[in-house]
Amino acid sequence: MFGRNGINGAGCVETAGVEAQQGPRHVAVIMDGNGRWAQARGRPRLFGHHAGAKRVREIVNACPDLGVKYLTVFAFSTENWNRTQTEVAGLMSLFRRYISKETRALRDEGVRVRFIGDRVRLDNKLVVLMDELETITELNDRVHLTIALNYGSRDEVSRAIKDLAGDIAAGTLAPEDVDEETLTRYLDTKVLPDPDLVIRTSGEARVSNFLLWQSAYAEYEFVDTLWPDFTKDIFAGIVSAYGVRDRRYGGVRP
Ligand code: FPP
Repeated sequence: MFGRNGINGAGCVETAGVEAQQGPRHVAVIMDGNGRWAQARGRPRLFGHHAGAKRVREIVNACPDLGVKYLTVFAFSTENWNRTQTEVAGLMSLFRRYISKETRALRDEGVRVRFIGDRVRLDNKLVVLMDELETITELNDRVHLTIALNYGSRDEVSRAIKDLAGDIAAGTLAPEDVDEETLTRYLDTKVLPDPDLVIRTSGEARVSNFLLWQSAYAEYEFVDTLWPDFTKDIFAGIVSAYGVRDRRYGGVRP
């Protein structure tokens, strides 16, 4: 057993009674470098975000053949509100257009879409589209795409603790019953396995408040490629290389 959450699936095989890891079941991606990609072409930053959005579909489509069942992408962080009004509004409009345009294809290709992050600050039109996409794809199981939108790990954990404290105050949860599993059940990601591999593009080696709790045992891969240049072949290379890593979760090699 390699997954900590007790979920075993496409990424594992049995060899002589011992499970050997084939590849990552859940890959999370920090899609970085859209702005620099656009600036290098003398274009506005939003041009890079549009090019980046096209890559999302390519990477989602590559997942089934690579045994990646869960893909989580960081589309907008709780810190991204600090960008210019023009860029934030452009990104929000891009998300609305992306969802409207891609809904049918995602449904027909067996992609189940979920969103994580706090929806309270998002505009109502976008939230309605997000809800619809989740509902329309809820029976799909080929690939599980999770889009982190207005997401930050610290914000997620704070919201989870607020809910958990509410249940303690209401008497439906006993303080002595709170353990790691309990908190996990209050997170936005409660139905997802932990990521096995986190990739960040664009040469930055930071985790930027992304899935901090969930990635406690993940492998990290930092690549120089800017997100709009991140092809399915680069993705496949990283996923294959993961198969030879030796994850021990704090234990020792037998
Ligand atoms: C980081 O690059 C990227 C973002 C903040 C936005 C990510 C959004 C997309 C890839 C497009 C839409 C995605 C979906 C799922 C529809 P950056 O702007 O920080 O780049 P820089 O570091 O070069 O400035």
